[in-house]
Amino acid sequence: MIIVKSEREIELMRRAGKITAAARALAGEMVKPGVTTREIDKAVFHFIRSQGAEPSFLNYNGYPASVCVSVNDEIIHGIPGPRVLKEGDIVSVDVGAYIGGFHGDCAATYPCGKISEEAQRLIDVTRQSFFEGFAQAREGNRISDISHAVQAYVEANGFSVVREYVGHGVGRNMHEAPEIPNYGAPGHGPKLLRGMTIAVEPMVNAGTAAIRQMSDGWTVKTRDGKYAAHYENTILITAGEPEILTAPAP
Ligand code: MF3
Ligand code: CO
Repeated sequence: MIIVKSEREIELMRRAGKITAAARALAGEMVKPGVTTREIDKAVFHFIRSQGAEPSFLNYNGYPASVCVSVNDEIIHGIPGPRVLKEGDIVSVDVGAYIGGFHGDCAATYPCGKISEEAQRLIDVTRQSFFEGFAQAREGNRISDISHAVQAYVEANGFSVVREYVGHGVGRNMHEAPEIPNYGAPGHGPKLLRGMTIAVEPMVNAGTAAIRQMSDGWTVKTRDGKYAAHYENTILITAGEPEILTAPAP
């Protein structure tokens, strides 16, 4: 069942979303040569707590950190640790914050110093694919209208969408119905209604769509070793243009 939020609940989600977006921005600003992924996690943890919120990811299914930091060929769920970021890396940060009974969830990929043109194009296409899906996320459309728009844009630009992980409803739980794949034919799935809150999150590989699950139980990498990018916002469905709840968005 897809939960439709009341005006009061939406107001609470805006609050959670703002803190989550600020945590993402903080993580993004820290992406610099010489910084460890653990330092980013520590800063995000302290920031979220300083806002009176809780990091949504910490201990979620046993996840050991407040943020996912996924570097280069890591697509998602990279665990922060002693890895030192270096010039030319691309760094995906994914973060959630919980306050007032609701979650925000968002991600983005940031360049570490000077990166290759092709890596920047991957970041830009991934971000824009979110906005292609976003434009379809309005009352009366169906879930797979979002999916199709993301996939069409990514593939028109020569990249691939990951199939095994999907966007999702978000609210009192970080993952609620419906699932929102980043691929598929348009016109399928549940109809969108105003008051639904969903996380749209394209995960895009520069090479093939194939993934590899690492033995740490979390990190997901591209099978071919090429780079991947991720971009996500929590959004509110309205009768017109959707609202980004994890605002401001990069
Ligand atoms: N942010 C991820 C998502 O969009 C979830 C992260 S998994 C966690 O669904 F374990 F790190 F929390
Ligand atoms: Co998500």
